[in-house]
Amino acid sequence: MPDPFRLYPATRLRRNRTSESIRKLVAENTVTPADFIWPLFVVDGTGIRDEVSTMPGVHRLSVDQLAKEADRAAELGIPALALFPYTDPSLKNPTGTEALNSDNLVCQAVRAIRKNHPDLMLVCDVALDPYTDHGHDGVLDGDVIMNDETVDLLVKQALILAENGCDTVAPSDMMDGRIGAIRTALEKNGFRNTRICAYAAKYASCFYGPFREAVGSQAALRGDKRSYQMDPANSDEALHEVALDIQEGADLVMVKPGLPYLDIIYRVKQEFGVPTVAYQVSGEYAMIEMAAREGCIDRERAMLEALLAFKRAGADAILTYFAPFAAALLNNRS
Ligand code: PBG
Repeated sequence: MPDPFRLYPATRLRRNRTSESIRKLVAENTVTPADFIWPLFVVDGTGIRDEVSTMPGVHRLSVDQLAKEADRAAELGIPALALFPYTDPSLKNPTGTEALNSDNLVCQAVRAIRKNHPDLMLVCDVALDPYTDHGHDGVLDGDVIMNDETVDLLVKQALILAENGCDTVAPSDMMDGRIGAIRTALEKNGFRNTRICAYAAKYASCFYGPFREAVGSQAALRGDKRSYQMDPANSDEALHEVALDIQEGADLVMVKPGLPYLDIIYRVKQEFGVPTVAYQVSGEYAMIEMAAREGCIDRERAMLEALLAFKRAGADAILTYFAPFAAALLNNRS
């Protein structure tokens, strides 16, 4: 122990825990609505709020409903939304061509939200899995996900999103070299300020299950994603992934899932000191929400404690399905 540390009874650490005011004063970390990116699911139609059965409290929304949630985000002080489409199975095919339709659901959603919210950050996934009939993030040759052929399509997808008003493209596919390819294409096409939020350390995780149900890719998925998403056994490799994505032009780097991977968030932030985003994924949301509904834990305290843990680990921002609930709670407190 360094010198200034004195022993009991000169030192009683409980003195600084005796009242709410001193606890607030010495708190090392805080979580606020400004830390949140709110993920939302978009579905075709009007007036639709369709609850995701594995994620109670989370809905697939038609574009008109989504626009209302954007207003709510602005009121709550949430600076960013992340948009994910539920694609009708009839629009899916092996190469995910709907991803390149500039009138697809995500593009419609971006345009609708942009009308009233020029400054709201809109984060859009770049990956083919909502659009392929086999549920993989890339194109296949037999059972093999083809890296470079996929990157060519992802570049086009990213440009289309940028053209429609998306300010932050978020490649979630884990192909090699895609950040550099997308950055080059954005520069060449005049999108100098379009950010890339790289899903840099994305693990092959079972915690994505409810998300895949929400976007309808679960039923479609053939096999698993272990040939492109990372092995949960590894953490040095995560630093390698993040280093490459920063070099290739990422503005923000993401670690995903969140809570079981706090060590990765910590290492990434310590090592690189760049804006680091944690994704509290669908399975993490479901665990807290379902446990609370069964009366096992206190929902509000569990969600705020988990969110604070991300900040303590070093995350600058958190993608969380709890965003509107947590923001409302935090706003009421202050
Ligand atoms: C698609 C994508 C996934 C998630 C975000 N983008 C699923 C996957 O990779 O299979 C998961 C998000 C969540 O579980 O909340 N590439």
